[in-house]
Amino acid sequence: MHSIKHLKKSISNKKLVFAVYGLGNVGGPIATAWLRTGAKVIGVDISKNLLDEVTQGISHKKEPFISTTFTKNLKNGNFEITSDGIQASKKSDIKIITVPVDFNKNKINFNALISASKNIASGLKKNDVVIICPSLPPGSCKNLVLPILEKNSKLKVERDFYLIYSPERIFEGRALQDIEENYPAIVSGYGKNSLDFADDLLQIISKKGTVRMLSMANAEAEKLFEGVYRDVNIALGNELADYCEKIGVNYWETRIGANSQPFCHLHYPGTGVGGLCIPVYPRFIIESGNKIGKSLKIIQNSRKINNSMPIKCVKDSLDLMKKHKIKPKNAQITILGLGFRGDVTDSRLSPTYDVVDEFLKIGSKVIIHDPFILEDSKIPKDVILTSNLSKAVEGSSLIFISSDHKMYSQLTKKSFSKVKKPLLIYDGRNVLKRKYFSSESLLTIGLRD
Ligand SMILES: NC(=O)c1ccc[n+]([C@@H]2O[C@H](COP(=O)([O-])OP(=O)(O)OC[C@H]3O[C@@H](n4cnc5c(N)ncnc54)[C@H](O)[C@@H]3O)[C@@H](O)[C@H]2O)c1
Repeated sequence: MHSIKHLKKSISNKKLVFAVYGLGNVGGPIATAWLRTGAKVIGVDISKNLLDEVTQGISHKKEPFISTTFTKNLKNGNFEITSDGIQASKKSDIKIITVPVDFNKNKINFNALISASKNIASGLKKNDVVIICPSLPPGSCKNLVLPILEKNSKLKVERDFYLIYSPERIFEGRALQDIEENYPAIVSGYGKNSLDFADDLLQIISKKGTVRMLSMANAEAEKLFEGVYRDVNIALGNELADYCEKIGVNYWETRIGANSQPFCHLHYPGTGVGGLCIPVYPRFIIESGNKIGKSLKIIQNSRKINNSMPIKCVKDSLDLMKKHKIKPKNAQITILGLGFRGDVTDSRLSPTYDVVDEFLKIGSKVIIHDPFILEDSKIPKDVILTSNLSKAVEGSSLIFISSDHKMYSQLTKKSFSKVKKPLLIYDGRNVLKRKYFSSESLLTIGLRD
């Protein structure tokens, strides 16, 4: 038997022990949310580097409360960390999977999910609970994870253990707040027992309560649709912004006007869509549609539009140089922002990589500035990455704004005093205050003076 009251008691008595598999952007905040209820938590990760950072209290730099909660609970014994996923499964009752499922060489990469599931299965006991959180193609929990758990543990779902799918809905930089306060938790289970348990358990950390889904596949699809909605609408913003440039209309002003009508939600255009979520989820759906011969045309076209943005923006910036008779070959180009989005430390699938490649192809020299990312193994070796803005812009022939870090909105003409004359800027995110720059210097996405 379980009720919220009973579960809370078992958590504070440490009768229910949690294990979180994957302590990254999602797993770190989830482990923290449970530690903050007084739970005993085992954090499992294969990255020695991350485990070292957790031990030193320097992990999750841009997420408030994570490393301080870890440090406090490592000291008082409520939190332990390990790379041994089998032992963690043996010692825990509730196992939460937060490892990544991504794209590798154009194929969905389930390796981390399969490996974590096998480890959990090896230690799975009667009455244990497995909660899966990564975003997945619909059907993955039932057809991929469940057979691994049952086969390797010789236990039966619903009768011996519960299987729950609860996709995480977080915005990097305020993940813990999103889990605890901002969104209801989506809950689904293999059967009624699993679903009822998920509903009671997740209400303990989610102030906004839960949204029950009738099947795990419905919940898997729900999470992907959130991302697809964003990707398609960003593509619409990009297409309309391009159209506005061609007909001499200001997209940014029309957007504000249009969005004052309650059914209109036009999104920002920009240099591209990055991160592990928004560009990836549409591809899960496209792949899953391909398997049954269903082509999803709006989603496919939106991906194409968003993928083409780095090339379009570089081309427009080269036109600006050409207008001023500046040759891009051997010229120094400064790109502002490597983060896939403003104010994040995450550069995964950032459109900036494609922007860099375009400039390198034509023989330019590239410097990237980012205030949060101090090193990155994926940038080509001739490209300099620095967090020193005045060093980054010194002697440059073009400033190209790729990420909308808040600090860039404070820049004025003075910030670029060391740039080669004439000052040329391509603002691919519309972050600069236009009053500080002449229309000759500044070209902004979505508008032409
Ligand atoms: N980042 C987001 O904002 C966000 C939001 C919602 C959902 N998601 C989904 O959550 C999932 C995880 O994303 P993330 O951003 O936390 O990834 P991440 O790369 O930041 O973290 C994943 C962690 O899992 C570890 N790991 C890999 N294989 C493992 C294994 N077999 N056992 C234990 N640990 C292992 C890695 O070392 C890493 O530390 C993704 O599938 C993503 O789609 C992410």
